[in-house]
Amino acid sequence: MKKIDLLFILLLIGCQEAASLKEESLLIIAHRGASGYAPESTLASFRLANKMNADYLEFDVQMTKDGELVVFHDAKVDRTTNAKGELKQYTLKQLKELDAGSWFNEKYQGEKVLTVREVFEAFGNRTNYFIEIKNPPNDSKIEEKLIALLKEYNLLKKKGQVILHSASKPSLLKMQSLAPETELGILYWNRDEVEIAQAELNEIKDCVSHVVVNQHVLTKADIQKVKEAGFSVHVYTVNDVEMAEKLKTWGADGIITDFPDLLHFF
Ligand code: G3P
Ligand code: CA
Repeated sequence: MKKIDLLFILLLIGCQEAASLKEESLLIIAHRGASGYAPESTLASFRLANKMNADYLEFDVQMTKDGELVVFHDAKVDRTTNAKGELKQYTLKQLKELDAGSWFNEKYQGEKVLTVREVFEAFGNRTNYFIEIKNPPNDSKIEEKLIALLKEYNLLKKKGQVILHSASKPSLLKMQSLAPETELGILYWNRDEVEIAQAELNEIKDCVSHVVVNQHVLTKADIQKVKEAGFSVHVYTVNDVEMAEKLKTWGADGIITDFPDLLHFF
């Protein structure tokens, strides 16, 4: 055999091994960015998560008083900015005046509350997005606005580039009707929701392909059951290496973590 042929075969074996390792590995979904290291849901946090090679950037979408989509977790601005009050009472201009970094560490002073557009502008299709629609009011048009923005940035073309998830079934159904190509996930917080999941999943399996579950209410049997029903399972918020390893052996597909470098030593 020629030296060059041997080299090619070795390269091929190496590539196959790398591919199967990736298939076995957990997806790392950066919870509000690398929020264990930088103020959540800010550019600093998302940039760091990206640098740490997170598979997905996770963030929560809410709407301002004047109808702009912003990346924000809490209903109130108190915990993560230098102001007080309900997010929905702020216009985008008012929100942009807030400091969203100092609460975490003085060195992040001046980090801003982001619009969803700013995140797509910054990262485009160079990363994947795991987006939660948070507490959508029925008549808010939040779903319409988000889907329009995803289409504007060409983010719904590549399968799996965006996974939208919510605890709200009406919101999931609305997103499916607006963009049937979108991958959707249902979010479970407590044990009761996981217990009734089987019946519910049968009901929504034409619409939803991912289940997003709180680590504290989940068993190995739940994961097996949900996977056998054909869903992917992603678990939050996993900041502990032993838990991550356990979930991997249980067959979870992804972990949502504040520390996207959690498993880097593998
Ligand atoms: O989106 C999954 C996970 O983030 C749900 O919990 O409260 O951090 O949005 P929460
Ligand atoms: Ca979330």
